[in-house]
Amino acid sequence: MIVAGTRAELAAARARLAGPVVLVPTMGALHDGHRALLRRARELAGTGARPGTVAVSIFVNPLQFAPNEDLDRYPRTLNEDLRTCAAEHVDLVFAPGVREMYPAQQLVTVDPGPAGGILEGEFRPGFFRGVLTVVLKLFSLVRPDVAVFGQKDAQQLALVRQMVADFALGIEIEAVPTVRAADGLALSSRNKYLSSPERAVAPVLHQALAAGAAAAAGGPRAALEAARRVLALAGGALTVDYLALVERGTYGPVRDDAFEGAAVLAIAARLGGTRLIDNVPVQIGAGQPGMAEHAADD
Ligand code: PAF
Repeated sequence: MIVAGTRAELAAARARLAGPVVLVPTMGALHDGHRALLRRARELAGTGARPGTVAVSIFVNPLQFAPNEDLDRYPRTLNEDLRTCAAEHVDLVFAPGVREMYPAQQLVTVDPGPAGGILEGEFRPGFFRGVLTVVLKLFSLVRPDVAVFGQKDAQQLALVRQMVADFALGIEIEAVPTVRAADGLALSSRNKYLSSPERAVAPVLHQALAAGAAAAAGGPRAALEAARRVLALAGGALTVDYLALVERGTYGPVRDDAFEGAAVLAIAARLGGTRLIDNVPVQIGAGQPGMAEHAADD
């Protein structure tokens, strides 16, 4: 496994890589959710006589953190991450420092468009500008054929797809379903911040989404009300930033109660000082099953 810390090292390695090159962009602190991304990347790159390349980037991107957020305490576990990558048959890790990614102030950034201003974008202004800017830069440096993202960050995934389409980047975007703990909590590097009483409450996010999905045959309002009823059980322990239904492809809000079709039920909530997000795909409308499986192109 090659570990590149600089653009020059990456460029030298990139020149020798066999295609297809499949990139998994991460901020490190790798857990089983990331392992699922790495395994999917390995499948896509191939394992036969002439396998392609799995590349992973590990970079905690300051541009996507607001001044009041957790940039300083975000877990950084590079040595452990490198062991995980080696165990998952990764070929190349790009782990640059901040100066390497941003040698000068980043004056030109990616505007995430209208879907970047709602939900996460409303509660974390500047977040998607930071995400899309670093993802575009990683794409320019690594030049992947395919990039793999988790469905857990569904709005990020939708916006990356939009950016790839709008800028004709010619990179295939692959989504991997959310990996959950046995009690339903979506795996996240930020789960490490939870105290044990908070960890005990945290599965209510997924329970609420599952209740919403189960009620989805009754329409948008029924789905949202069912989810809200479950969230109420957590009482004051949980502060919900949003619970929302959005269209699957565009991530635009579902406003019409007569809406039928593929949607995403998404939530963000704070437990003490920790902010958690989660979502499930739902099929809204009469006679439809509740929680949908993600299609391969979700
Ligand atoms: O999902 C993440 O870990 C980050 O937002 C990403 C895509 C690596 C960009 O920093």
